[in-house]
Amino acid sequence: MKGCRSVVRALCPLIALLYGLRADPSLQLLPAPENVTIYSYNLQQDLRWEPIKESDPLHPVTYTVQYELTSEKNSYHNLCLNIIETHCNISKFTEIKIYFKIVLRVRAEQGNLTSKWTLTPTFQATRNTTIGPVKSLSLSAYPEEHYSLYVRFQNPLLVENKWKMLYQLNYWKKITGVKTTVNITQTSERLKGLDPWTEYCVDVTVFADHKVGETSEAICAMPTASGTSFEVTTCPMPCSCFST
Ligand SMILES: *[C@@H]1O[C@H](CO)[C@@H](O)[C@H](O)[C@H]1NC(C)=O
Ligand SMILES: *[C@@H]1O[C@H](CO)[C@@H](O)[C@H](O)[C@H]1NC(C)=O
Ligand SMILES: *[C@@H]1O[C@H](CO)[C@@H](O)[C@H](O)[C@H]1NC(C)=O
Ligand SMILES: *[C@@H]1O[C@H](CO)[C@@H](O)[C@H](O)[C@H]1NC(C)=O
Ligand SMILES: *[C@@H]1O[C@H](CO)[C@@H](O)[C@H](O)[C@H]1NC(C)=O
Repeated sequence: MKGCRSVVRALCPLIALLYGLRADPSLQLLPAPENVTIYSYNLQQDLRWEPIKESDPLHPVTYTVQYELTSEKNSYHNLCLNIIETHCNISKFTEIKIYFKIVLRVRAEQGNLTSKWTLTPTFQATRNTTIGPVKSLSLSAYPEEHYSLYVRFQNPLLVENKWKMLYQLNYWKKITGVKTTVNITQTSERLKGLDPWTEYCVDVTVFADHKVGETSEAICAMPTASGTSFEVTTCPMPCSCFST
């Protein structure tokens, strides 16, 4: 650099850097978002990241999120634009199908500064999502059916998909814990041939095209021998509940 004398030579790299920053707007002053993670549960996707520390309250930090299809490299499309939140609900963007293989990226902006992009690994909802337990699981006895219990629940996946759902029901006498397994495709089942006045417990695991979901918590109930007695107990897994 011209004008740098030997006495100030030590400062030259710094001066060069400052000149460089002024001359090259692509040099970033704003840190890129960290811990950029896709939370995907029951096929619903939310991208989240750590906030950038505010250094200038006059120019709040905002974020922009984009995606690209891995089959169309370097062609990014906007999702959330100039938002102040530190997450972007990807499921709101219905153009992103659950079977698309995508890369998401997020950057920070402040005034006219922008950070570098932080990229996620390749993501495909149908591969990467976590399937939760069935919803609204209930186990009930009917007074007129002394040796049966009815299991009812709902599919945890509200997002439309082409998966073949299979529900694995485990049920057992609470006192022995010896499990019987039945696989069903519908969301209710009658457990027959049970002993009356004996407490039974049941849990359900979802198989969505061989992807295994989280097992529900166990719930327990008793078939009634007569009258209108009716009892349901819930207990945490593994099931070892004692009536209180
Ligand atoms: C990112 O996550 C790591 C590990 O969970 C944590 O140690 C780190 O502090 C996080 N970074 C920020 C900026 O919060
Ligand atoms: C994300 O958007 C979907 C679709 O609009 C909605 O069903 C879901 O509740 C939203 N999730 C969050 C965390 O806001
Ligand atoms: C960025 O903003 C600052 C002050 O807000 C302004 O002085 C500067 O000229 C701007 N730079 C560019 C490249 O727009
Ligand atoms: C999705 O799953 C694949 C295979 O397990 C893994 O390599 C990839 O990192 C996951 N993507 C995300 C965003 O976690
Ligand atoms: C139920 O289905 C699961 C998943 O396909 C399988 O691993 C298990 O062996 C089946 N159990 C019975 C009793 O058919």
